[in-house]
Amino acid sequence: MAAAGEIIVSRTELDRYVVECLIASGASEDSARVMSDVLVTADYRGHYTHGVNRIDVYTSDIKCGMTCGGGLHPTVVKETVATALIDGNNLLGPVVGKYAMDIAIQKAKSAGVGIVTVRGSNHFGIAGWYSLHAAKQGLLGMAMTNSDKVMVPTRAKERSLGTNPISMSAPGKDGDNFVLDMACTTVAWGKVEMRKAKDETIPRGWAVDSAGQETTDASAVAGLQPLGGQEQNSGYKGYGLAMMVEVLTSVLSGAEMCAFVRKWKSHEKPANLGHCFLAIDPDAFADGFTDRMQDLIDHNRNLEPVEGERDVLVAGDPERQHMALCDKLGGIPYHPNQITFLDGIAKDLGVARLQHASLSS
Ligand SMILES: NC(=O)c1ccc[n+]([C@@H]2O[C@H](COP(=O)([O-])OP(=O)(O)OC[C@H]3O[C@@H](n4cnc5c(N)ncnc54)[C@H](O)[C@@H]3O)[C@@H](O)[C@H]2O)c1
Repeated sequence: MAAAGEIIVSRTELDRYVVECLIASGASEDSARVMSDVLVTADYRGHYTHGVNRIDVYTSDIKCGMTCGGGLHPTVVKETVATALIDGNNLLGPVVGKYAMDIAIQKAKSAGVGIVTVRGSNHFGIAGWYSLHAAKQGLLGMAMTNSDKVMVPTRAKERSLGTNPISMSAPGKDGDNFVLDMACTTVAWGKVEMRKAKDETIPRGWAVDSAGQETTDASAVAGLQPLGGQEQNSGYKGYGLAMMVEVLTSVLSGAEMCAFVRKWKSHEKPANLGHCFLAIDPDAFADGFTDRMQDLIDHNRNLEPVEGERDVLVAGDPERQHMALCDKLGGIPYHPNQITFLDGIAKDLGVARLQHASLSS
């Protein structure tokens, strides 16, 4: 349910806003449209930490020339029938990501599998956009990226890896799907900041202080714990997953690695992030994939929930519920402070403010 007083903005209006802000900052219209789709989709799917409220980071990167807003295309550096290495030429992450995933999809359609690794890119938003892009064409899709260092590995005292998100989408029947889309840290940095702003504590397993010790004090946080938290709770598995992402993104492509990636929001040097995209054609394997995939999804959804819970979900269901809510409301709900923030950016860029449909009650 949307909270009372939230402001509802249609996806069309958000798209208009994002595209105009990016163009006003120097992006080409083509690039702005791809970026907008990824950001608006993030909010629609309920991942507000990686959606429209990050527009200022992208516009400021373009304005100061730290990211290329358009006029170029990514370059295929090397390729085989099933693989490609792409140089993103420092274009916007979603522009590079869509280009690379489209190549992985083409290769999967002809060779059964496509693996594309990328260097010279920027922050690409939600990993799920790219894996879903493949799943919408009947393929299995995977996407991952490295990112700026916020994770403190198990037994370490200082930060090294990024949140390094990974996503896999697999199509079921009639548009249903499994969409795992997750960071390799327990939570995103934004969730710690929200607790800090409200003067609230954070749960164990989220973060560590400057001594590398687990903390529940949001204002003492110096880094995020890997998924799982402390060693006794298998935090080393999240650490291992983040390393796996790093291998397939930066190590394989020659992009900037873990601790050497520039700090988020800093303009000290180009981000030079690495991504990796995989597309797999299920028809290259056993017949009847979508039927079995749907059985797998349904079996888990139909498990008996514990007392106090209404239903058992599979990955992608929380996002499905959020999209259904948006459809019911006729747009995406935002806290009024978020709209004030976005209006301020519009004013600075000389772009029309967001028109909103209504207040939820
Ligand atoms: N580009 C970047 O650098 C970057 C970095 C970090 C995160 N991200 C993006 O941020 C978004 C949020 O990441 P996150 O790790 O906070 O996601 P999250 O913890 O909200 O969800 C992770 C996954 O768990 C699934 N899930 C949630 N509750 C569930 C339940 N009860 N049962 C079954 N499945 C459930 C979700 O569908 C999702 O697939 C993602 O889209 C991610 O790609 C991007």
